[in-house]
Amino acid sequence: MNMGKKINEYETAGFQISEYDELSSTNTEAERWPKEELKDKSVILTYCQTQGRGQATNRWESEPGKNLSMTVVLCPPDCDASRQFAVSMVCALGVCDFVGHYAEGGKVKWPNDVYVGDRKICGILIEHAVAGRFIKRSLCGIGVNINQSRFLSDAPNPVSLLQLTGKSIPLEKALQELLACIGRRYGQMTDYGRLEQDFMACLYRGQGIHEWEDESGGFRASIDRIDEYGRLVLRDTEGKTRVYGFKEVIYK
Ligand code: BTN
Repeated sequence: MNMGKKINEYETAGFQISEYDELSSTNTEAERWPKEELKDKSVILTYCQTQGRGQATNRWESEPGKNLSMTVVLCPPDCDASRQFAVSMVCALGVCDFVGHYAEGGKVKWPNDVYVGDRKICGILIEHAVAGRFIKRSLCGIGVNINQSRFLSDAPNPVSLLQLTGKSIPLEKALQELLACIGRRYGQMTDYGRLEQDFMACLYRGQGIHEWEDESGGFRASIDRIDEYGRLVLRDTEGKTRVYGFKEVIYK
């Protein structure tokens, strides 16, 4: 249950922030808000998220006062629901651009984790509301590890900017920079081709042949492309094309 109190409201980098002292999950809080208040570019933020939600049944670890945990509301105009992966690309590329201010080698691990090397610096959990053919709104839950120095959960290979650079960053500065990056990518929403091109250029395992596993076992393949529905298209070493939705293939 979210028991947080709203402690601040302000604008930064073109986004309208509602800051809470503490929340179990910013995404859960967003779901609780009256729909008419979920306006385009509004952000629910807390520096103390106690039960952050990850993909599937996973939890998202974030030490109080150390990281960015927020839900960014995006209401992309006239965005066909079949193109909802564009919202994932906007968020993941925005985070990658931000991470690039501080560390080299930020990559998007399909569908929308952000990695530096083989370590995860950001998790993204997006929930779309669709009306007819179009996206009505997307609740984009974004957790970026900024100043945390030790991770206690069994999440595989977490990393923070502090661990990468040895320097801590004021969270307000990180927030402003991150939202500016996401805002710039959001401005490219109507240019799916450009987003796709940049996403491919930023893709973890985007080059070369790697080990994968699906329900029929392990295999070796390279990433061919992301299709128009956001699915991962692999080409295996026998030349066969394999197409996967989220959670249908494992990176080995
Ligand atoms: C994942 O990689 O499994 C997704 C993690 C998403 C974490 C963020 S933190 C802010 C927002 N609120 C949540 O409860 N989860 C997302």
